[in-house]
Amino acid sequence: MAEPLRVGIAGLGTVGASVIRLLERQAGALAARSGRSIKVTSVCARDRTRDRGVDVSGLAWFDDPVALAQSADIDLFVELIGGDEGPARAAVEAALGTGKSVVTANKALLAKHGMSLAKLAEDKHVALAFEASVAGGIPVVKTLREGLAGNSIERVYGILNGTCNYILSRMELEGLSFEDCLKDAQKLGYAEADPTFDIGGFDTAHKLAILTSLAFGVAVDAEAIHVEGIQSITLADLKAAEELGYRIKLLGVAQRTAKGIEQRVHPTMVSRASSIAQVMGVTNAVTIDADAVKELTLVGPGAGGMATASAVVADIADIAKGIRSAPFGLPTGSLERAARIPVQRHEGGYYIRLTVHDRPGAAAAIATRMAERHISLESIMQRHVPPRKGEPVSAEARPVPVVLITYATSEATIREALEAVVADGYIAGPPQVIRIERE
Ligand code: HSE
Repeated sequence: MAEPLRVGIAGLGTVGASVIRLLERQAGALAARSGRSIKVTSVCARDRTRDRGVDVSGLAWFDDPVALAQSADIDLFVELIGGDEGPARAAVEAALGTGKSVVTANKALLAKHGMSLAKLAEDKHVALAFEASVAGGIPVVKTLREGLAGNSIERVYGILNGTCNYILSRMELEGLSFEDCLKDAQKLGYAEADPTFDIGGFDTAHKLAILTSLAFGVAVDAEAIHVEGIQSITLADLKAAEELGYRIKLLGVAQRTAKGIEQRVHPTMVSRASSIAQVMGVTNAVTIDADAVKELTLVGPGAGGMATASAVVADIADIAKGIRSAPFGLPTGSLERAARIPVQRHEGGYYIRLTVHDRPGAAAAIATRMAERHISLESIMQRHVPPRKGEPVSAEARPVPVVLITYATSEATIREALEAVVADGYIAGPPQVIRIERE
């Protein structure tokens, strides 16, 4: 059997400790598959005394991740520190620079510096592997890079953030407030250190940037992504979605269009009958539309120690076997720079919720503003809301919700129509607009 692969791990949080546990548990099977054993020899973390439930006493301890990355006693550096700059970036660059392969779960780092890191790995003839960076335990990186190599991909979209899906699921199913659901997600350890990364859609955008590159052979370009979070979604939207046959999910979508590759992250109406709508709670899912396989949906745990460790260990096993794929599927020089498509050029159906002063002519005025721009309405729903105790009885004094679903039109047209509706003075408060994604 060949020499053991010596692994150094920087970052001993839940995922790091789970990687050590999993490598121990699967040691025999991994050695048999790889033709060599895999040995964690060195670790680096902030707190040496913390009980992590794994025995690290026999391992070399480093306080500085860069020193570990440069150590001559490791062949492979595993980065589980997180963050798009600072120690994570410095250590990954140091490892690649000294000719060591790197395995990382760091989506923020790859979204920002993926191209330069891939180039460095290429120049040094080492691997840069990141299965764990997108959708935790779902092997979507390998699926896109190797499994679907015979396909031309039209669209890839998914639920890539467990925290957001958990919040939206609980709000819908239990009628709980956004704030209460977020607090629970934090308690359960799903949320990022700064939860605005989750709820603001940025974590999803980091993951989407990686998927877009793998799916379409383009350079990673997180700046090209239109990002909206779930903060504006209300129980009224979730209820209206249910009544109209939809469910609201925070999706990351990358799609080939005649104008180029659209990349967007936003709350999305999906048909309740679709595969992606069935995915509830912290679970992630990715759907890929490709010419040969048609539609493929992968569903699984997007976060959590063991699930993420499963992806990290798969990459370690590949490197032990000597597999070195181009990180983003193509040599970096062959990855095209895709045009940035402004979201105003997006075409699709829209859900619009307006709070309307219930006066004669209000519905007609809204419909007119839509018709003037050739926006066709698929459905229109207005509910009379009986006055609560103490509220004025006059219908005119009380705003009522009106929900419209449009057929496909452009974002620019919808925004222009809504500006005109607002100027007409029939509505109270800003319109809620949610894009619809068809299967
Ligand atoms: N905060 C992330 C999530 C963890 O909620 O999905 C995995 O990236």
